[in-house]
Amino acid sequence: MAGIVRRIASRVLGEDAAKKIYGGMDVVGDIAIIRKPVDFNDIDVFRRLGEEIIRSVKYIRSVWLAVAPVEGEYRLRKLIHLAGEKRTETIYREHGCVFKVDISRTYISPRLSFEHIRVAKLVNEGETVINMFAGVGLFSIIIARHARPRKVISIDINPDAYRLMVENVSLNRVEGVVEPVLGDALKIIDLYRGSAERILLPLPELALEALPKAVDSLRGEGFIHVYDFVRANDKKAALDEASRKYAGALEESSHVDAFNITYGRVVRSVGPRRYQVVLDIWVRKS
Ligand SMILES: C[S@@+](CC[C@H](N)C(=O)[O-])C[C@H]1O[C@@H](n2cnc3c(N)ncnc32)[C@H](O)[C@@H]1O
Repeated sequence: MAGIVRRIASRVLGEDAAKKIYGGMDVVGDIAIIRKPVDFNDIDVFRRLGEEIIRSVKYIRSVWLAVAPVEGEYRLRKLIHLAGEKRTETIYREHGCVFKVDISRTYISPRLSFEHIRVAKLVNEGETVINMFAGVGLFSIIIARHARPRKVISIDINPDAYRLMVENVSLNRVEGVVEPVLGDALKIIDLYRGSAERILLPLPELALEALPKAVDSLRGEGFIHVYDFVRANDKKAALDEASRKYAGALEESSHVDAFNITYGRVVRSVGPRRYQVVLDIWVRKS
């Protein structure tokens, strides 16, 4: 797929422009999303590229241009239709699970695929997991299908994400394990104080703010997975910076008896000297 698109992009846009497009394309089900480089404003050129993709790649039915980065409370992208069917809903498959998604109304990124299965493999039998920023349920449902949790409380504030999460729970037959909840996780989490072994914070913009609430919702000790953006000169420095930030916050908390950052990795690069980082943090409450 990547090779074909790269060849089409080189033919339509020229080699230099094609290089910029290449790293910025996602395929979600049968929809391709091209990220517009900031210095490229001729939409007609992208339409030609979209039409070529539809002609040459049989399983792509719809092509969209993301004209701005993911933004706002619901983490959505502004999209312009380029070619093929004018449709934003599709079926996305990951790790043997099936997800109904809407690329314009809900957050969805295939770039988190490795993280979804990595975290699922860490979950022990009988755990209660709380996913505070669940989107359409990818982490939660993949955990329910690949591990044996007792419960996965799966919260999102976006009504469209909640609606699709409910559908995805039944599509993947994990009713009774994954419990979709609609609302502000920073408030709802208070209902789950002292109840979970593992908390997921997959929203960089709120992860640090959510951290004390995540600690409170642990039963005694457990793991918190934080996703955050950090500025740094390289990947090693990015991990050091994220570790400093979260260690600092946990050291200051009177609710934390002990903690250990057991793992960290750079999930992806999100701009010049800007990285998305995940930390797995074991915490024991005081
Ligand atoms: C980066 S996305 C989550 C991605 C998802 N975990 C996945 O793997 O596909 C962040 C989600 O947090 C939701 N969100 C933002 N603020 C929230 C809040 N205060 N409470 C609950 N959900 C929130 C957004 O609607 C969005 O769906």
